Amino acid sequence: MANPVIHFFGILFLLQTISAQTIAPAPAGPTNITKVLEKAGQFTTFIKLLKATQVADRINSQLNNSNQGLTIFAPTDNAFATLKSGTLNSISTQDQLQLVQFHILPTLYTMSQFQTASNPLHTQAGSSDDGQYPLNVTTSGNQVNVTTGVVDTTVSNTIYSDNQLAVYQVDQVLLPLALFGAPPTAAPAEAPAPSKPEKNVRAASDAPSGSSDSSTDASNAVAVNGYTVKGALVVAVITAIMMSVSWL
Ligand SMILES: *[C@@H]1O[C@H](CO)[C@@H](O)[C@H](O)[C@H]1NC(C)=O
Ligand SMILES: *[C@@H]1O[C@H](CO)[C@@H](O)[C@H](O)[C@H]1NC(C)=O
Ligand SMILES: *[C@@H]1O[C@H](CO)[C@@H](O)[C@H](O)[C@H]1NC(C)=O
Ligand SMILES: *[C@@H]1O[C@H](CO)[C@@H](O)[C@H](O)[C@H]1NC(C)=O
Repeated sequence: MANPVIHFFGILFLLQTISAQTIAPAPAGPTNITKVLEKAGQFTTFIKLLKATQVADRINSQLNNSNQGLTIFAPTDNAFATLKSGTLNSISTQDQLQLVQFHILPTLYTMSQFQTASNPLHTQAGSSDDGQYPLNVTTSGNQVNVTTGVVDTTVSNTIYSDNQLAVYQVDQVLLPLALFGAPPTAAPAEAPAPSKPEKNVRAASDAPSGSSDSSTDASNAVAVNGYTVKGALVVAVITAIMMSVSWL
């Protein structure tokens, strides 16, 4: 009769060999937003802006450190080209940063999750999640429209999606109302006056960001990454151990 212990280690060895082959090529380091956009092509202006504002680094470190997920609306080069000339240069460096962050949602939305998203969506623009730079979506079937109050556009393509990050192509730059809204009649809402009496009037709907996280549970997106493979292996190892034990 075969020695069950030897049999057990035999199976383990076999599994390790399989796992080394299956897992090794999968995760090539954390996701790099610049690489994702470079690979997609036609996003050179957005990449430049992401780099100039150092948002690219921030995105990459967020992807590496948190599991909350991100959604990015990436305007094409053509979208930037059709802006009225001087649009980007008409705003300060600080506002350019807000503009870039306006294209980023601090939550993962799959295309179908937009259907149940409640407007306005929070963006990463603004000093905190206070709804100063809101963005609305409307959906119909697979179509997702985005509106800022200044610009209406449609998600025209999914460039990238995993269980942490979704990058969608938009064919217009999302110009936030706070920066490009009403013509300069009175004092623009954007410039914070030196002393404002009601400073604590913050959107009451704001959940404490960070703690409540309903985003990751819906991450059953495209899951051909190391974790799913590992999960399958754990099951396989447990099965193998149970089989070996039953031989004793
Ligand atoms: C991301 O990719 C870009 C270009 O492919 C590269 O220059 C940059 O160093 C990468 N960043 C990280 C954190 O790997
Ligand atoms: C990702 O995070 C880990 C752990 O915090 C860190 O050691 C590693 O250097 C980070 N990698 C990148 C590319 O930032
Ligand atoms: C999205 O926008 C297009 C073009 O403006 C429009 O025809 C369509 O009805 C919109 N769909 C939704 C769901 O708002
Ligand atoms: C966005 O949606 C909110 C809530 O429905 C609404 O109050 C607001 O007017 C909308 N803004 C735009 C620009 O569509």
